[in-house]
Amino acid sequence: MKVEFYKHNLEEDDKKECLSVLNSLFLTTGETVKTFENKLAGYLGAKYAIGVTSCTDALFLCLKCLNVGAGDEIITTPLSFIATANSVEYCGARPVFVDVEKETGNINVNLIEAAITSKTKAILVVHLYGQMCDMKAIKKIADKHNLKIIEDCAHCIEGERDGIKPGQLSDFACFSFYATKNITCGEGGAIVCNNEEYYSWLMKARLHGMSKNAADRYNKMYQHYDMEFLGYKSNMNNISAALLVHQIDRVEELLAKKEIVSKKYDAGFKNNNKLKTPQVLNNSKHARHLYTIWVDKEKRDDIMHSLQELHIGVAVNFRVIHLMKYYREKYGFKEGDFEQAEKIGAATITLPFYPKLLDEEIEYVISSVNKFVS
Ligand SMILES: Cc1ncc(COP(=O)(O)O)c(C=O)c1O
Repeated sequence: MKVEFYKHNLEEDDKKECLSVLNSLFLTTGETVKTFENKLAGYLGAKYAIGVTSCTDALFLCLKCLNVGAGDEIITTPLSFIATANSVEYCGARPVFVDVEKETGNINVNLIEAAITSKTKAILVVHLYGQMCDMKAIKKIADKHNLKIIEDCAHCIEGERDGIKPGQLSDFACFSFYATKNITCGEGGAIVCNNEEYYSWLMKARLHGMSKNAADRYNKMYQHYDMEFLGYKSNMNNISAALLVHQIDRVEELLAKKEIVSKKYDAGFKNNNKLKTPQVLNNSKHARHLYTIWVDKEKRDDIMHSLQELHIGVAVNFRVIHLMKYYREKYGFKEGDFEQAEKIGAATITLPFYPKLLDEEIEYVISSVNKFVS
C-alpha cells in the first residue's frame, strides 16, 4: 500500500471555474479575485480580504503596512515555517522569538511581556497546526503596550477559540493556499483586515503602489494610473482565485471529514504511551491542518524513514527557526535558547492527513506507527 502525504480536494466545479477563466480574456487580477475575496471575508466575518501570491508575501505586506523597518523588533515563535520569521527579516527588522507551550506548540503567552522592549512594534502569532493561540490574552498584552498584532493563519482558516475567529482581535490575518493547505490553488495567499486605511494601502501595495489596476483600465475607458508609493508585485490572479472560490464554500464540509480522520488517529494511538499528540483545548475549534505525533527525539528520524520505507508520506513541521544556519549565524542563537520549541521540533512527525484518506489507509498508518513507535 502507498499512502500519500497529501491529496488536494479540487472538484469538477473548481476545474470548470478555472476553465471559464482560461476561456475568458482576463487572466490576471479581476472579478474572480474579487469574488474570492468577498467569500473569504464573508466566511470569516471580516470587512476586507486581499488576494495575494502567498502567505509569505501577505505577512511581509502587513509588516510594511505597519511601517516596520530597521531597528524594529517583532515578537514571534521559533516553532513555525521559516516564512514567518523571514517576513520580518525582509523588512530589515529583528524577529524576537518567544518559547512555546509544551502542550500545544503555540507561543507561550506568559512569556511575551518579558520579550517586549522599546523597539517592539508588533506580535506575530502562528496558529500552529490549526489550533488558535490565546488571542484574548495576546490582545490584552498588545493593548497594554501599544503593539499591533498579525496572525499567521497559514494553518487556520476554520479555527476559533473562545468564539473568536482569525482576524477578529488582530490588525491582520494572513492565509496560505500553498499546495498542501486545507484549501489550495498551488500557490496563493490572502490578508484579512477590518481597517479601511490598511485595506486601501494593501490593495495598492500588492501591485506596485499603483492607483488603478489592469481591470480598472480594461473595463472602463482607459484611465491613467499614478504610482503613489513604492509597492510590490504580489497580486493574486483570476486563475488561482477560480480554484479557490468553490473550495471556500466547502471548507466546513472538508473540515468535518478531517475531524473524523483525526478521531480515528486519536483512537489508534490512545494506548501507545511512547507517543504524544498536541493537546486540543476545550475552548478551541481546531482547523485540523496537520496531524502530528511527538516521539522520542533520538528515534524520530529512524521512525520517519521506516514509515517512508512502507510508502507512508511524512514530514516535519517544524524544525525550529532559530537553529537554522542563517539565524544562528546572524543572531548567535544556540541549542537550549527556546527549550520547549526545540523539544517539539526534534520529536515531531507529521502524518498523512486529508479528507480523501481511506479507512484502510488510516489503519495502515496507525498500525505502522504503533509498530515503530514502541
Ligand atoms: C506557518 C506558516 N506560515 C507561513 C507559511 C508560508 O506560506 P506560503 O507558502 O503561502 O508563503 C507557511 C507555509 O507552509 C506556514 O506553514
